[in-house]
Formats: sequence, structure tokens, C-alpha cells
Amino acid sequence: MGVRYPDLDGKVVVITGGSRGIGAGTARAFARQGAAVAVLGRDRAALTAVAEELRAGGTQALGLVADCTDAAALGSAAERIEQDLGPVDVLAAFAGGDGYPVPTVRETEEHWRSVLDGNLTATFLTVRAFLPGVLARGGGSVVTMASTAGRLPSGASAAYAAAKAGVLMYTRHLALELAGAGVRVNALAPGAVRTERTAAVMPPEVRAAVAAAHPLGRLGEPEDIASATLFLASGASSWITGQTLDVSGGRVIV
Ligand SMILES: NC(=O)c1ccc[n+]([C@@H]2O[C@H](COP(=O)([O-])OP(=O)(O)OC[C@H]3O[C@@H](n4cnc5c(N)ncnc54)[C@H](OP(=O)(O)O)[C@@H]3O)[C@@H](O)[C@H]2O)c1
Repeated sequence: MGVRYPDLDGKVVVITGGSRGIGAGTARAFARQGAAVAVLGRDRAALTAVAEELRAGGTQALGLVADCTDAAALGSAAERIEQDLGPVDVLAAFAGGDGYPVPTVRETEEHWRSVLDGNLTATFLTVRAFLPGVLARGGGSVVTMASTAGRLPSGASAAYAAAKAGVLMYTRHLALELAGAGVRVNALAPGAVRTERTAAVMPPEVRAAVAAAHPLGRLGEPEDIASATLFLASGASSWITGQTLDVSGGRVIV
């Protein structure tokens, strides 16, 4: 994690799903680069804790409650961030989840719709809320969050896999649409990453089996995803758009 991207110093970065897990790890990584960071999620206490931790380290940080399936909440958050931190340069649309496997015969319409909403539609609504500001600024970088589940049939639910595959195509579409406006858009497709949530549902034997399914022989850490995000946000990737970066220990090799 020692890589420095001097161009990220002073940038304004928004991270949805920043209250915990991969998003919070990514917020810390941007803070170490000197960026101003806004974290969004639904859990006020967790968001406040992340923002306070970042501010204690000297970062300009905001923690805002916004459900990413709620366009109005996202609009208010975008307004507040522009007012307090300035125009947004980097958007990491990471909120999502709920990949727990459900066989199709037991899948409910309600759960299916909620997984599509919470991953695919939430990504669209987040981009739509923040894009006007990024365009007004004259360019920036958007990083979306897919998963290995969106790349290969896996142990995740079909709804989650379909939603994450949708995020990948949405990302490519957006990249083409926005290339002329100086906005690059790329997707991350992580394999299994160790977070509080995944640690809680993985007994040691399951964890060992999941690690073994990744050719590099371990689970990912939030820092692995954060490092890839910094690269995609920075000028170091200035000729890269519309791509999927598999951060998966070799789980997906295409
Ligand atoms: N961990 C993995 O193995 C893995 C692998 C591939 C992809 N991913 C993806 O990476 C992202 C982060 O995963 P994680 O493992 O870090 O998950 P996590 O620890 O469960 O955290 C999920 C984050 O997303 C936020 N979130 C979820 N739905 C939201 C909504 N509707 N509105 C606002 N915020 C919402 C949560 O906020 P609140 O708790 O504050 O509501 C939380 O900050 C997800 O998109 C997930 O699908 C994870």
C-alpha cells in the first residue's frame, strides 16, 4: 500500500458503501493520498465513525446517510458534498451485496427485485446523481463494483450474478457515452474479500476452501480492492476506460 498517486492529493472522492468493508478500506486509502472523502451508506453510526476516524487523521471527510436505491436521498447527498467539499472528481459506486445463494425455485420476486435494485439500479442512480457535477468539472473517474459472480457462474445467487453482470455492461456503456467528456468509467470484479461480514459467515474450513479456489491461495483484503481503485481513479490509468479489472487472485483469467 505504499504507492503514491500525487494527482489524487486534494481530489474530492465519493464512496458509496463507505460505512464498512471494502468501501471503508477504500476511503482510508484515498485519505492517505490526501484526497477529501465522502462516505455514503445507510448506517449513520458506522458512517460517523469512519468520517471521524478520517478527520482525526487530518482528512476533510463527510459521512452521509443515503440509501443508494433512493434517487432523492442521493440528490441531497450530492448537493451537500458539492457545498462542503467541492465538485466531485472520483466516484466509487460500491454499495451493494446480498449474494447469498438461493435456488431459483425458492427465489421470491421480492428478493430478486431487491437484489437487482440494490446492486444494478443503485449503481445507475448513484452515477446519475453525481455525474452532472463531474461533467461540470470537465472530467473525472467513475469506478463501479461488480464481482467474480458477474463474470462466471459461481456459488452466489443468480439474482446477484445477473445484477453484477448488468453492472459490467452498464459500465462499458457509460464509458463509451462519457469518453468524449473526459470521464473514464471502469469496473472492479473482486473475488472473495475478507471483511467483517464475510468473516462472520465463514467458518475456518469454509474460509480455507474459498481461499484455495483462488489460484493465489488467499482471500482478498479490502486493501487489495482499494489499491486497484486508486489506480483506476488516478492519472496512472489515463488511457483505460470501459474495462473490467478482475481483482480476484487469479479466480477469473480471461
Ligand atoms: N466482500 C466480498 O467478497 C465481495 C466480493 C465481490 C464484490 N463485492 C461487492 O463489494 C461491495 C462492498 O462489499 P463488502 O463486502 O464491503 O460489503 P459489506 O461489508 O456488507 O458492506 C456493504 C456496504 O454497502 C452499503 N450498502 C449496501 N446497500 C446499500 C444501499 N442500498 N444504500 C447505501 N449503502 C448500501 C452498506 O452500507 P450500510 O451498512 O451503511 O447500509 C455497506 O457500507 C458490494 O457491492 C459487494 O457486492 C464484495
